Amino acid sequence: MKQPVWIDSDAGIDDAMALILATKLDTVELVGASAVCGNAELYKTFRNVRNVLALAGRGDLPVYPGAEKPWIIPLRTASNAHGGDGLGGYILPESEAPEETRHAWDALYEAACRYPHELRVVAVGPLTNIANTIIKYPKFSSLVKDILIMGGAIIAGNSTPAAEFNIYTDPHAAQCVFKSGIPVTMFGLDITHKMKMTQEDLDEIGSYGKPWSEMIRVSNATILRLHVRKGYGEVIFLHDSCPVLYLQYPELFEGKKAGVNVETRSGPAFGKTVSDIYVYEGKLPQRNTTVILNGNAEAVTERVKELLK
Ligand code: RIB
Ligand code: CA
Repeated sequence: MKQPVWIDSDAGIDDAMALILATKLDTVELVGASAVCGNAELYKTFRNVRNVLALAGRGDLPVYPGAEKPWIIPLRTASNAHGGDGLGGYILPESEAPEETRHAWDALYEAACRYPHELRVVAVGPLTNIANTIIKYPKFSSLVKDILIMGGAIIAGNSTPAAEFNIYTDPHAAQCVFKSGIPVTMFGLDITHKMKMTQEDLDEIGSYGKPWSEMIRVSNATILRLHVRKGYGEVIFLHDSCPVLYLQYPELFEGKKAGVNVETRSGPAFGKTVSDIYVYEGKLPQRNTTVILNGNAEAVTERVKELLK
């Protein structure tokens, strides 16, 4: 029996690779997808999720539009990294699938009811849609099996010294998810900054001759150039691919059970995922998050290439 999976994304250049990978996992049955504002405005991420799935041959998968803005604070996109269109300017063919009009949270709840205690949710953007589902449908938290997120950072952030982009974009929604009691597996920057690809890797993927090869090679060049300017080196990070790979290859990663709270007030730590992972006394009362800290970087890169080939 395949695992029923829902993927929620603010596609996004690294989201695009993760979406393609999600369609190539033979133990996973994608049952739905949704778009959220984040890297770009919702109308762009909605279009990008639709078009990337169509490029992967899954134009049949329903994609639902979600939140146009975070719960409380204004939307701050990552157009500096992902371009104004969210895909580094890479033009994709338009999906021919009819546009779904129902809200992501209504469709996601329906999927959780259709697959009680089996549905896994992969959220690789801000958590606004997931939090909306939790608040609107009290039964959702006990129906969904677990949530795998790309987001947060126990050590240091990328949007600010403390906060990682997905959480920083909507910290209030993120807090709702961490407090919901749903088992969360968190792929923060602690692990995703260890999962990298070089220009050489991207050129190799570009040579596979698949419909997505060129998109992956060209769109990631945008991010790679930004990382060189930022001093990260000539690499891209496989941020959103990590939770997707974990669905089928959990053995590639190591995590620790922890409590996670989000700083939602103000100040230099605003949006930080505060964790009790390194304290012996004073553990947080709620500890339903598995924080992924290590992984087999070489094996992850090889798996990604195998799946994209
Ligand atoms: O901090 C990295 C995350 O922010 C990734 O999900 C990337 O797509 C951006 O949304
Ligand atoms: Ca993302």
